[in-house]
Amino acid sequence: MSIDFSQLRHYLDSLVPARSETMQEMEAYAREHRFPIIGPAAGYLCYQTARMIQAKRIFELGSGYGYSTAWFARAVQENGGGEVHHTVWDAELSEMARGHLRTLGYAGLVNYHVGEAVQTLRETEGPFDLIFNDIDKEGYPGSLPVIADKLRAGGLLIIDNMLMSGRIFDESNQTAAVQGVRTFTKMITTSPEWIVSLVPIRDGLIVAYKR
Ligand SMILES: C[S@@+](CC[C@H](N)C(=O)[O-])C[C@H]1O[C@@H](n2cnc3c(N)ncnc32)[C@H](O)[C@@H]1O
Repeated sequence: MSIDFSQLRHYLDSLVPARSETMQEMEAYAREHRFPIIGPAAGYLCYQTARMIQAKRIFELGSGYGYSTAWFARAVQENGGGEVHHTVWDAELSEMARGHLRTLGYAGLVNYHVGEAVQTLRETEGPFDLIFNDIDKEGYPGSLPVIADKLRAGGLLIIDNMLMSGRIFDESNQTAAVQGVRTFTKMITTSPEWIVSLVPIRDGLIVAYKR
């Protein structure tokens, strides 16, 4: 018997507790506009890990209209307050995120940056307890030294799309995005600085602990 991955994905999403109306609207928007949000199961893992380490300062690279940000903001609020940095280069998406996150009650927690995410992280004072990376995949290798510099020892890096819908297994695929994910995966899994697991939820998340 082998696992049907589409069935697995629906099953994992079905285990996530019911979301608020606003979160459901954000999920519906992603389906209608084919916008690549992390989805319920990966979002819940982000929330859970941020709660587990009592994260109070979180930086997100490639935030979209605020769906993943909402999961982190919920964790920070429940952890007693702090800050979540939302970073995207589209002003329109940043504006959409402000609306959603205000409605969800996280307005006071979120700092908005419109610009290139790695450069913004470079210019923002650390350290952070948790950094989440979901930028264009060719940018992943170049982001790692900046992330390592800004994350505290004992902090977590979560990075999305580490399976690229299976394209990483196709050796004839040498696109910049797939190569970016392969190079990043090799860099982090061979570095003594990190303890790393690839969690195959949705499109694959690396969860990495900085020693
Ligand atoms: C995959 S979507 C983000 C989804 C979001 N993390 C979520 O799950 O709700 C990535 C977004 O980041 C933007 N982006 C990609 N690379 C970026 C970069 N280097 N700097 C800033 N924004 C970037 C894209 O235009 C897109 O809007």
